[in-house]
Amino acid sequence: MKVAVLSGDGIGPEIMTQALRVIDLLIEKRQMEIEVVNAPFGAGAYFDHGHPFPDITKKICDESDIILKGPVGLNHQESKKIPVELQPERAAILALRQRYDTFANFRPVFLSPKMSHFSPLKPSVISSGIDFILIRELVGGLYFGKKTRGEDSRGQRFVEESLEYDEKQIRRVLTIAFELASKRKRQQIHNVHKSNVLLSSVLWNEILEEVGSDYPNVSVKNMLVDAAATALCLDPCQFDVMVMENMFGDILSDQAGGIIGSLGLMPSACVGEKKSYFEPSHGSAPDIAGKNIANPYSMIGSVAMMLEMSMNYQIEANEVWAALHTVMEQGYVTADLGEAINNTTIVSTEEFGSKVIDILEKVDWSMGRSN
Ligand code: IPM
Ligand code: MN
Repeated sequence: MKVAVLSGDGIGPEIMTQALRVIDLLIEKRQMEIEVVNAPFGAGAYFDHGHPFPDITKKICDESDIILKGPVGLNHQESKKIPVELQPERAAILALRQRYDTFANFRPVFLSPKMSHFSPLKPSVISSGIDFILIRELVGGLYFGKKTRGEDSRGQRFVEESLEYDEKQIRRVLTIAFELASKRKRQQIHNVHKSNVLLSSVLWNEILEEVGSDYPNVSVKNMLVDAAATALCLDPCQFDVMVMENMFGDILSDQAGGIIGSLGLMPSACVGEKKSYFEPSHGSAPDIAGKNIANPYSMIGSVAMMLEMSMNYQIEANEVWAALHTVMEQGYVTADLGEAINNTTIVSTEEFGSKVIDILEKVDWSMGRSN
């Protein structure tokens, strides 16, 4: 398997280093045939190569089976040094999603009961732990619709952006959500929409009923997106699978990171029919870059998702998840999870990575292979 590694900007290289340590360990312990190829991507690539997603990177990604990507982007002020149409969020991330048509974005939101003190929510609200997955449509809607900027006849600047979906785009992501829900214990979907205002949600909901009729065991709850934002704070344990269009998913997945204590705990998978890529849900955090304090959980978690979803290495993925959770349950966390609370020690990016590696080193890897 050839994996294109795009470390990205800001904290990207630091957290990617920890993720690559995990991959190296698995190559050694399990004789995995994984070849890693680094490629420039993001603001750094723009300054070095004139484009945040340069041709050389496109070629490497085209020739790879899987892409592992770190966060990209600069802070608000620095971003202004790059023309809007070449800023890495648009010209690299959205372009990557479009190139490989990675339409289904899986964002697991997990905090075991033993880790629940890392959530800012009251213990009574999250006592049973948080364990749901948010499925976000990733290549349609407002982010990819037609855009116009101009000046009208009275000299007023205006902008138009359109929210576009066709039936096929909606159906394929909903099918992924129902398939997933049908395999989970609770078999439940929350459909997040805004059909009281948006016509796009009316079509979305129509198709949801059609797709849902093929999955009689999956129960569907419909929830308006604004109400869903409240429900995530008041009763997050009710959720199992949430599904929604692109922008709703962008916003609510960041909120989900908040309720588990940090966006640093949000890995993700961006799945297409032919190719998938894996990335943290968060940005490049330029303010803390290079300080060895960023949380590598989301990047290492993205490796776990890659192992299970694109490589069929379920046993190995389970061990990586278990190691991540054990480190946190033992009380070791990076600074994003706040001041040291009772029995908690703040560790550096590298120390967190080492704790994960120590646990993985002790696993008895002589067990059967998963593929
Ligand atoms: C995310 C990010 C991206 C998005 C940005 C950086 C383009 O916020 O993956 O959630 O909006 O999708
Ligand atoms: Mn986002």
